[in-house]
Amino acid sequence: MTGAPPAFPRVVVLTGAGISADSGVPTFRDAGGLWEGHRVEDVATPEGYERDPVAVLRFYDDRRRGAASAVPNAAHRALARLEGALGDHLLVVTQNVDDLHERAGSRNLVHMHGELRRALCVSCGARPEWEGDLEDRPRCPECGERMLRPDVVWFGELPYDLDRIENAVVACDVFVSIGTSGAVYPAAGYVALAAAFRARTVELNLEPSDAVVPFDDARAGRASEIVPIWVDEVLSGGWTPSR
Ligand code: APR
Repeated sequence: MTGAPPAFPRVVVLTGAGISADSGVPTFRDAGGLWEGHRVEDVATPEGYERDPVAVLRFYDDRRRGAASAVPNAAHRALARLEGALGDHLLVVTQNVDDLHERAGSRNLVHMHGELRRALCVSCGARPEWEGDLEDRPRCPECGERMLRPDVVWFGELPYDLDRIENAVVACDVFVSIGTSGAVYPAAGYVALAAAFRARTVELNLEPSDAVVPFDDARAGRASEIVPIWVDEVLSGGWTPSR
């Protein structure tokens, strides 16, 4: 005997910097490859940190303060609304290190590139929640060493929760990519994986991205405008999840 089909499809939403752009958080690649005026190699690689740890810690302290003063926009809120209806049939996988999804109400959420609001102890591996600055080299609350860095995944490092994400992507009925350029793997490869497993794929982005496979449904516009519209369509039954 087979079980009844689920009332709601399983949905995986991948988000990138574009969803937080309308909250005033700068994206990575929209300003000539510079991130807030810094070369990515200087502030987002282990080598850059080794060369100048204080500059890197200061850079993320600034980003942490910037994210704390930003507020979730209508796109973050719409995804929280969708989770209210789909429950654990919705997984949001974000590449963003800000906490705007959780402040909007999302709970079933994976930060694959880490979080500004956590530190990572290079000495003992602890990942304590962190709200203050790291530039003045505070002690790790676990081991007492002054070896804390931001808990963000840099180029050359392994993203978090890859098994959980891949299992969700191959099992989902709908895969949605929001506000990401599709330039960074493994996240950029998830649309092809989802499509190979017969998911319907949707892109909601300011402009069509450089995705490896075409999306079934691609919509261009600001996330804060087009995400709530798509979510309303899904919740009203006006959008069909089948391919
Ligand atoms: N609404 C929707 N999309 C937007 C908006 C907006 N208001 N503004 C910009 N975008 C789109 C851009 O067109 C672009 O396709 O968001 C995307 C942002 O791309 P990136 O800056 O490359 O950010 P992202 O894809 O999240 O980067 C991935 O790269 O540097 C690493 O680890 C970092 O997580 C980051 C990863």
